[in-house]
Amino acid sequence: MIDKTVLITGVAGFLGSNLLHRLLQSGYKVVGIDNLSMGHMSNMDGALDNERFKFVEADAMHAETFGSITDDVDVCVHLAAFKIPRYGNAIDTLKINYTSTENVLDFAKARDIKCVLASTSDIYGKNPAVPFSEQHSDSVIGNSKSPRWSYAVSKLFDEHLALAYQDAYGFPVTLLRFFGSFGPRQPLSWWGGPPPVFINAVLNDLVIPIHGDGQQTRSFTYVEDTIDGMVAAIEKDDANGEILNIGNDEEVTILELAQRVKAVSNTGGDLKYELVPYESFSSKKYEDVMRRVPDTTLSQKILGVKASIGLDEGLKQSIEWQIEATRTRSFGDY
Ligand SMILES: NC(=O)c1ccc[n+]([C@@H]2O[C@H](COP(=O)([O-])OP(=O)(O)OC[C@H]3O[C@@H](n4cnc5c(N)ncnc54)[C@H](O)[C@@H]3O)[C@@H](O)[C@H]2O)c1
Repeated sequence: MIDKTVLITGVAGFLGSNLLHRLLQSGYKVVGIDNLSMGHMSNMDGALDNERFKFVEADAMHAETFGSITDDVDVCVHLAAFKIPRYGNAIDTLKINYTSTENVLDFAKARDIKCVLASTSDIYGKNPAVPFSEQHSDSVIGNSKSPRWSYAVSKLFDEHLALAYQDAYGFPVTLLRFFGSFGPRQPLSWWGGPPPVFINAVLNDLVIPIHGDGQQTRSFTYVEDTIDGMVAAIEKDDANGEILNIGNDEEVTILELAQRVKAVSNTGGDLKYELVPYESFSSKKYEDVMRRVPDTTLSQKILGVKASIGLDEGLKQSIEWQIEATRTRSFGDY
């Protein structure tokens, strides 16, 4: 039994709930905060009745939420965030991601504990030179009039804020730049990224909507690999003070992802897809990232883990989960 308690914000979300289950399995105690704005109670099924887990339904934007935590906490992992401005407004993305991060950092400072914070591959922005290295690649952020960049900017600000807290107050922080994680407990909407949306379309014989010309590339990471990286970041002192890419370095185009989902699903027939112009879902100029691939040299060296679950295997697991989950639970807009 590991005698350590981890506080997770965003515990009912995709990554938070997968981390929760893994940590409980390994013997940790977990205190989880979520306001259920985007997360789902059923993601915590099997954990809610575990005596080593305490769920706090509360808003990470309120400092009192953290003031109400009386448990001894060894590490906090900050995942609560608002990801895609398209789902609300850029104001939500900027305010939630700034305010909640400041509150988490104040909590870690008061307790003098390590803080692991979720960042994103979107921080590399339009930098055309892949693979992206934490040490050598710059953030190339687009025009401020395109609200899609508010997410990358909010996370870039969070990274600076965390490192400034570390410098000023002496407690360690670790920043994890996640690359497209997918798998069980993901939302089925675009909030969960292309894999669940494409799987849903293929399973229901619907047309897959592909943004732009489908030639933009991504590196999709099966969630078990993402969680391996997070656990290593929690446990290893060598990760303190570091910014680390967490992702699979297999690069695929979005069109190829659709083809792979279709092939793995064994649904027969031809792939049905349509190209959707960016202008159709954003009145403001939408700028996509054309290539996104992590350099994982540093994270492998420091964390001792490498994403090893291939795209097809990850899709197979995700499809099996999605078939079962849509049969047994209601997703609504999730
Ligand atoms: N999933 C990925 O591939 C990916 C990629 C890059 C970065 N990230 C980052 O990782 C983190 C987790 O991502 P995810 O995919 O699990 O997202 P998610 O939306 O599934 O989970 C976030 C959770 O935070 C909760 N939340 C939001 N605002 C809150 C608030 N004010 N107070 C309390 N809870 C709040 C939501 O209800 C949700 O359960 C986020 O910070 C995200 O930006 C994820």
